Amino acid sequence: MPAIISQAPAKTILFGEHAAVYGFPAIAVPINTLSLRVSFFAKPGQAQGMWLIRNKDTGTAAFLSDLPESDPVRKIIRFAVSELNIQQLPAAELLLSSTIPIASGLGSSAALAVALIRGVSQFLGFNLPPQRISEMAFEMEKIQHGNPSGIDNSVIAFNQPLFYVKNQSVEFLTFKSPLTIVLANTGIPSLTREVVGEVRSKRESEPEKIDALLSEIGQIALKAREKLVQTDLTEVGCLLNENHVLLQQLGVSCPELDCLVDTARKTGALGAKLCGSGKGGNMIALTNPDRAESIRKALLASGAIQAITAEVK
Ligand code: MEV
Repeated sequence: MPAIISQAPAKTILFGEHAAVYGFPAIAVPINTLSLRVSFFAKPGQAQGMWLIRNKDTGTAAFLSDLPESDPVRKIIRFAVSELNIQQLPAAELLLSSTIPIASGLGSSAALAVALIRGVSQFLGFNLPPQRISEMAFEMEKIQHGNPSGIDNSVIAFNQPLFYVKNQSVEFLTFKSPLTIVLANTGIPSLTREVVGEVRSKRESEPEKIDALLSEIGQIALKAREKLVQTDLTEVGCLLNENHVLLQQLGVSCPELDCLVDTARKTGALGAKLCGSGKGGNMIALTNPDRAESIRKALLASGAIQAITAEVK
């Protein structure tokens, strides 16, 4: 029996990726259909500080001290232990497993940070509030991604839909009925650090044009907040489509994402867009529940390597 099980969901950004980095509004939701789990087993009688890290998905195992310095698991655990000011670590075995695809715009790195920080702190007897876990995960996201907005760690640590503006307290969103979304993966790795860096370079060379696009994306997120709360899903779908056009103009889409977005719309989605940093990774489609399965199948037939339906509450 594990002493502690710590789980974190995937996330998707409904509105405002990239714009969020520059302080414009964005909306993100947790996707609990996909998750990352860490089980902690106490190993009494074994040498202090010995932490064996096992990965269920790859079948690999290594002691924490033998993991490369660059390994995110090592960095996150070391950081959490030092923040908690723990000198003597009881021996432990950790088992990691995840259904969140990596480098695909679904927040796998933030989920790893949140699940590990929460698990390590609980295993060591601390019950940190989500805000503190989010702040600690944000520090790890900065190392991983350079200049993140903080939206991924926030939505995953709180596990609630939220309206997000960088450096402001998060605003939770409540939907009258669950949203049905279909997520489809192009199979092309989406590297947040690189794509965010490319947008930054574009902004430096064409500040007026790029700022106008980012600001328009932020305006869409503002309108979408209102429409989501009113459950005006037809309007939310139109706003998703508008957001996708602006992301195309920002240069972060790709033919594979555009093709899946197009397929979803033609199969009856209320709206569709890429999600996350783009240039690969996943797209999302908002749909009425009865259309979800045909959209999911059409996305697979159009080249998606994985497509899932998720209910967002
Ligand atoms: C990544 O999930 C979303 C981006 O806006 C980056 C960020 O907000 O940190 C591309």
